[in-house]
Amino acid sequence: MPTDWEGIWGKAEGAERPPWDLGGTTPAVAEFLRENPTPLGKSVLVPGCGTGYDVVAFAKAGYEHVVGLDISPTSTKAAREHAADKDAPAAHFETADFFTYSRQVDLLFDYTFACAIDPSIRDAWAAQLANLVRPGGHALVMMYPLRPLDNEGPPFAWSVEQYCHYLEPNFSPVFIKECAGEGRRKGFQLLSLWRRRSPPQPVESDL
Ligand SMILES: C[S@@+](CC[C@H](N)C(=O)[O-])C[C@H]1O[C@@H](n2cnc3c(N)ncnc32)[C@H](O)[C@@H]1O
Repeated sequence: MPTDWEGIWGKAEGAERPPWDLGGTTPAVAEFLRENPTPLGKSVLVPGCGTGYDVVAFAKAGYEHVVGLDISPTSTKAAREHAADKDAPAAHFETADFFTYSRQVDLLFDYTFACAIDPSIRDAWAAQLANLVRPGGHALVMMYPLRPLDNEGPPFAWSVEQYCHYLEPNFSPVFIKECAGEGRRKGFQLLSLWRRRSPPQPVESDL
């Protein structure tokens, strides 16, 4: 059965935050932005952005147009409230389904989105990543959670090999590396950067 994300967000509204929510910028994103002060292009998309802490972080780091996308209107509301006093005019939030979204960007950041979707639609996730990142652009993908899980999910477990299997047809790896981690996720995640390959060009015949 598909996950009722709006229902989960509705319940979280009364509580402090939803269970996955770190309450601030993902440490690996802060580290990545420190280590890469020159933006990898102008536009960023963060699918399944939740409260949007990372959207604000990219916007404040010099990216010119950063969109946080989430299927839950309650999440979008929380993200807009969070960003309101952060002096980050480049941060924008939209309620939309990642799988039908169509605006291409220079950089896409996936954190706890790939692990939130059902494993049966990973092909569609990878195809959308390739559609949404312009040729020559980048996908920054947190590989998580890299360990077997005993619950039904989400989150659904991934392996490094599975991420590579889905990404390699359209992206070349730039790095896969250890990164700053938080609490119980430390040791079960790797940060990866991928460059979108250009689609093959038709060969011109000189006949
Ligand atoms: C596990 S949460 C992670 C949120 C955020 N990345 C974080 O780390 O705090 C997954 C998010 O993806 C959103 N989501 C699930 N399916 C989606 C879809 N098809 N399109 C856009 N957002 C989706 C959910 O509403 C939820 O906010």
